[in-house]
Amino acid sequence: MAPVYGIAACKGGQGKSTTVSNLARLCALYGARVLVVDLAQPGTATTSLRDIFPDGEFGELSGAMLSFQRLAPGARPDMARARAALEAMRLPILLQSQPSWSGGFVAALPWDELLGDAAAQLPSNLILRGLLDALAGAVDVVLMDFPAEGGPLLTNALAATDCVIVPLVPETPALEGLETTLRLLARGREAGHAIRLGGILLTRCDPKNKRAIEIVQTLRQSGEVEGEPLGQQLFRFAIRQNEFFEQAYRYGEPIWERSSNAAHWAGYVLLAEWLLRDAGLAHLAAARRGPALLAADTRILDIAALMLPEPEVRLSDFEAAHATSGAARAETARGRTGMGART
Ligand SMILES: Nc1ncnc2c1ncn2[C@@H]1O[C@H](COP(=O)(O)OP(=O)(O)O)[C@@H](O)[C@H]1O
Ligand SMILES: [Mg+2]
Repeated sequence: MAPVYGIAACKGGQGKSTTVSNLARLCALYGARVLVVDLAQPGTATTSLRDIFPDGEFGELSGAMLSFQRLAPGARPDMARARAALEAMRLPILLQSQPSWSGGFVAALPWDELLGDAAAQLPSNLILRGLLDALAGAVDVVLMDFPAEGGPLLTNALAATDCVIVPLVPETPALEGLETTLRLLARGREAGHAIRLGGILLTRCDPKNKRAIEIVQTLRQSGEVEGEPLGQQLFRFAIRQNEFFEQAYRYGEPIWERSSNAAHWAGYVLLAEWLLRDAGLAHLAAARRGPALLAADTRILDIAALMLPEPEVRLSDFEAAHATSGAARAETARGRTGMGART
């Protein structure tokens, strides 16, 4: 079964959609078959991928979900019916593969305006899960842009997700959003869904901003919140603050078409590799290529070095320092559980 990664933040502007679209392009570049599920108004993750959208008429995910309006309360759609419901909508949409992707692809279930209303009319929170299960054999990983607001669509998203990545802009109000997101995961677990926290990713991180240091220290000292040892859940690398992500979105292009400096997206390369390994696809993660082919002196924003005069370290030094943790999270001691143990 393809693991489902939810990119979730209860506060807007944290870089959720940017993370989804960059991860999708990068994982496909490594040869993975990626499904993007865009549940976040107004469909920014989908729009970010518009350079590779095919022409043609497609139905909507809300339509596929509504075909289960008369399902028994709390039931999960069966595979054959779920597959038929998607096919009737000509979903998912297969985006245009690039020659460099060598077998990888991105398919999408784009956001549509009726999703929220549709979810509210459904008799079960397992309908999205059922639809994704029907596609699970045809893809390697699913990336879901979570709705920012609560409600039945969010409950459907939680029930369909195996692992959550929380992007976080290092600003004080974002910490409250993080707590809300963690409460949400706890609620999902209470409802019986085996959903784990993959990690917290600092995004839009300006190494000269002292707030970033304070936030990292706060997280490291905060102990457990909703059962999660926060300090150990931070990814070691952060995503740099830079203008090229916004430009890439505006022009509907990958960031590497806007800038030639790989340091701007290197954090997402490391995140894509973490995700592929976590998903049991370590053999794909080993083959860096194209825009993921980082030079040894590419600058990585290392959150362990944030308080030092030079928080950006050479990739080779970063990888040497964190070799045992797969350059992933802040602490190595955490036992790997769930899907991570498969690799
Ligand atoms: N690392 C970054 N540096 C600078 N701007 C960024 C970065 N990541 C995202 N952005 C910009 O910040 C805004 C919010 O990002 P977005 O991914 O849409 O957040 P969310 O989906 O969480 O609301 C967008 O304009 C996006 O282009
Ligand atoms: Mg968004």
